[in-house]
Amino acid sequence: MDDLLFAKEAFIKKLEAVSSSAELEQLRVRYLGKKGILPEKLKQLPKLPPEERTSFGKAVNDLKALVTEAIALKNAALKDAELKRKLAAEGIDVTLPGRHVTPGRQHPVSRTLAEIIGIFTAMGFGVEEGPEVELDYYNFELLNIPKDHPARDMQDTFYVTDDVLLRTHTSPVQVRVMQQRRPPLRIVAPGKVYRCDADVSHTPMFHQIEGLMVDKDISFSHLKGTLEAFLHRCFTPETPVRFRPSFFSFTEPSAEVDIGCIFCAGKGCRVCKGSGWIEILGAGMVNPRVFEMVGYDPEVYSGFAFGMGIERIAMLKYSINDIRLFFENDLRFLRQF
Ligand code: DAH
Repeated sequence: MDDLLFAKEAFIKKLEAVSSSAELEQLRVRYLGKKGILPEKLKQLPKLPPEERTSFGKAVNDLKALVTEAIALKNAALKDAELKRKLAAEGIDVTLPGRHVTPGRQHPVSRTLAEIIGIFTAMGFGVEEGPEVELDYYNFELLNIPKDHPARDMQDTFYVTDDVLLRTHTSPVQVRVMQQRRPPLRIVAPGKVYRCDADVSHTPMFHQIEGLMVDKDISFSHLKGTLEAFLHRCFTPETPVRFRPSFFSFTEPSAEVDIGCIFCAGKGCRVCKGSGWIEILGAGMVNPRVFEMVGYDPEVYSGFAFGMGIERIAMLKYSINDIRLFFENDLRFLRQF
């Protein structure tokens, strides 16, 4: 009986010192486990004189009940403390200011290009791409510009080798598509082009979009109608459009297309150099010699083509007076779009 009293006091002290679930489990095993202190005590029962057995057995069982309940209470207290600690660690201070997220914006050139492509796809044109590192053969020869042709001087070409260059325009995509497919064709070809030139209106890399339509009975009026519809959507339905005769080796006849100056409404200003008109694209009827080179019969098929610079259109739409602004990545400029 003294042993039991001693065991009880020892248990109470140890329980007070317990600070984790693992320690508590150790204590439980020590007192209540199969070989624990209290089961061992019960095993002593048969050795006692019969008259002591009842009271001793009851005392052990009472202590067992006390230990069991104390452990359960301590367990609940530990769990509670652990939960409180976890909640405190995961707590959020809802009064803290939020983090600032800077939204990105579409670059004005991408935006203008997407808008132009959208207008042409709405008219049924498909979108094609070609390589930026191009063969002289596609960039010039197949476009009816032979090696010693003076038209080559108009384009300040970056050569990689004698036969390989950075394309100076998107027109080579025309002949690549014609070589691969049969009419009817109705495509636009957007992309980067390169020329060795730099000032307020020229950068060594810029963007163009090419257009090509080939079928039986395509006439110059289809070209006019298509480009007028395009320009009226790209600018305003009231924008005046005019065609001027011009020369491109891969089209015959060729034209340059102007719109009425959107800065002075045609009165004449610095942007339009007093003429009231701004040149916006080159176009024409596909030269029969180009058709022959790609294996189309010019007696059967006819077509039109056009090409324009994207930066130039973006500059007009957003009143930007220096093309280099597009490529400086100055956030103060880009944030305005
Ligand atoms: N490739 C010409 C240039 O870069 C633009 C051009 C003119 C494209 C007439 C055409 C066209 O398709 O028909 O200056």
